[in-house]
Amino acid sequence: MSRPVILSVAKLPPFFGKQLTEAFVVHDRLHETDPVAFAAIAPEIRAIVGGGESRVPRALMDQLPALDMVSIMGVGYDGVDVPAALERHIAVTHTPGVLNDEVADLAIALMLSVARRIPQADQYVRAGRWAKDGAMPLARKVSGARLGLVGLGRIGQAIASRAIAFGMSIAYTARSAKSDLPYSFYPSAQALAAQVDFLIVITPGGAATRHLINAEVLKALGPNSYLINVARGSVVDELALMDALQKGTIAGAALDVFENEPHVPEALWSMDNVVLTPHIASATLQTRQAMADLAAANLKAHFAGQPLLSPIPEWG
Ligand code: NAP
Ligand code: 8YV
Repeated sequence: MSRPVILSVAKLPPFFGKQLTEAFVVHDRLHETDPVAFAAIAPEIRAIVGGGESRVPRALMDQLPALDMVSIMGVGYDGVDVPAALERHIAVTHTPGVLNDEVADLAIALMLSVARRIPQADQYVRAGRWAKDGAMPLARKVSGARLGLVGLGRIGQAIASRAIAFGMSIAYTARSAKSDLPYSFYPSAQALAAQVDFLIVITPGGAATRHLINAEVLKALGPNSYLINVARGSVVDELALMDALQKGTIAGAALDVFENEPHVPEALWSMDNVVLTPHIASATLQTRQAMADLAAANLKAHFAGQPLLSPIPEWG
């Protein structure tokens, strides 16, 4: 039997690419690099594979009459036009769960980094300032502080369990209160922000959460508190955030995600109260391997006529 033809819309790690080429004919971003060759092969493409940041718009699906599967190697799928996929009964899968530890670890690392000024301390030593200027100014204690989580799903709960070990109190906002969890629920991000020292954002992206963290939420967070975003850049109003950082409306921010990746506003580069990472929350060999395995297993199950392992909730 001939191998199904698939289109990758993101640069895939080699260990994922290797697995895929064993079972499929893979065209790597052909729609971007060679539109003529893409047009010729488009009628044969059965599946799209991409990452959490990938865009799979209706316009791309419309060019692929045989498409019946989108496999995302990532938990977030806000770049996929889900209504368009569902209209055509195109299955969409993602990789929930296998990256919880990794993303939670980075959220905690960013919280510690911005409060304890670890990147700045590293620079202080490297620039010879310790010997020249003496000790650094004192930082902010994390243990025992008040943590607010915007989103308390799989990853939010993994962050909370780590923060408990730091003696932090946990409060959260989400679409609904979780009566089975011993954390304080607030009905809005603004109400939550007013009560915490650190606000970690870990919701999905997309229209429903766009600019959930706006100027009012940042004002409520206040001049002694910090914002950490490991969700999607779209959840935070970046202009409002830069304004709040410049004016001291909040104490600082640690950001793994941005509104227009991979472009990070240059105004953020030079801010002393900011820690920046390039969307690396799940980026370890171990976790990316687990994500790749699950994304490949979904594709193989689909083409073998077996049940999907991890379809998106909207798939039903
Ligand atoms: P999840 O289990 O679906 O949890 C999502 C949480 O967000 C839930 O608590 C949900 O509320 C809440 N939420 C959804 N819409 C909301 C809204 N409009 N207002 C307030 N809260 C809302 O997802 P997860 O596995 O924890 O992943 C969360 C997100 O993290 C992903 O979608 C992805 O965008 C991001 N992520 C980023 C990276 C990275 O590399 N930086 C890596 C992995 C994931 P309910 O519980 O009430 O439904
Ligand atoms: C990755 C992510 O950057 O899972 C997600 O939603 O954003 C990250 O884990 C991505 O999926 C790798 O392409």
